[in-house]
Amino acid sequence: MNVLITGARGQLGQDCAAVLGGRHRVTAVDVDELDIVFAKAVDAAVQSLSPEIIVNCAAFTNVDACESQKDSAWRVNADGPANLAAAAAKTGARLIHISTDYVFDGQKPVPEAYTESDAPHPLSVYGKSKLEGEQRIMEKIDNHVILRTAWLYGLKGKNFIRTILGRVLNEPQNRLKIVNDQYGSPTWSRRLAMQIDRLLTTSACGIYHASSEGYCTWYELATALLKALDLSGRLSPCTTQEYPTPAPRPGNSILENNRLKTANLNVMNNWQADLQEFLGTHGQELTASLTRNTTGAFS
Ligand SMILES: NC(=O)c1ccc[n+]([C@@H]2O[C@H](COP(=O)([O-])OP(=O)(O)OC[C@H]3O[C@@H](n4cnc5c(N)ncnc54)[C@H](OP(=O)(O)O)[C@@H]3O)[C@@H](O)[C@H]2O)c1
Repeated sequence: MNVLITGARGQLGQDCAAVLGGRHRVTAVDVDELDIVFAKAVDAAVQSLSPEIIVNCAAFTNVDACESQKDSAWRVNADGPANLAAAAAKTGARLIHISTDYVFDGQKPVPEAYTESDAPHPLSVYGKSKLEGEQRIMEKIDNHVILRTAWLYGLKGKNFIRTILGRVLNEPQNRLKIVNDQYGSPTWSRRLAMQIDRLLTTSACGIYHASSEGYCTWYELATALLKALDLSGRLSPCTTQEYPTPAPRPGNSILENNRLKTANLNVMNNWQADLQEFLGTHGQELTASLTRNTTGAFS
């Protein structure tokens, strides 16, 4: 199939390009080649490339920065998907778009999971802009899949695992306070790329949850990470109140992949098994890339 991936240099975008590239004719672009904010550019690119499927991995993902850069967040996370949806509807392409657990307010008691039929109620600008993106897509194109995922990590890009590992490796003397009252499902971006691949040739339509099975807190994730790499670090659990951030975050971000399972399309895995596989495959490369050499630069 002829597939266009937008936001292709992000952590999910890179894994999508690698996974889908082995099986399909993929054009992978990021903001330098196609800025999804510009409707005319999006329309022209979709007209000229004629993709059968567009996979939108582009987003403004810095949750805290979205609070102070609301206009930019809205342009990328709401206008961008709307532009892609309008262009795809015109050419008959299918749109697969990625959304987030942060469309929910997290008020459900843990371990109750959010399903696709739960009403969204985002707390942050990021969550609100992503929800608006979902709604604009649903208004503009029938042939769409919106995949809500959570707590993404991968080899590249900025994510919790890389941040914690970098700090443990380079600041072993420091004690790290890590939030222990927000619950979610850490999701490997490569597994999500495989889920997207699984959906490409189906007639699945609408909103689907796609996160790992099982759940933990950020502190539990950091502890599991260090244990798997046989590293000792000085981690202290703390509450959300003790670790204030510009953007409010849901206490319960656990998603249930109800619709994928019902349709027998779920390829998502348990979070601990995926973390083991991720670290088994990439642990050494990850550790090397995050370790500063004596000049203070990263190797
Ligand atoms: N990361 C998570 O924990 C998480 C959790 C739930 C859902 N999600 C969703 O999963 C998807 C993928 O996330 P990710 O972690 O892979 O994000 P990411 O690493 O930040 O990648 C996003 C990519 O989009 C690019 N981009 C930004 N603005 C753009 C624009 N106007 N036009 C085209 N490209 C643009 C970014 O470029 P620059 O880097 O140059 O800005 C980046 O390469 C997003 O939809 C995100 O909302 C992520």
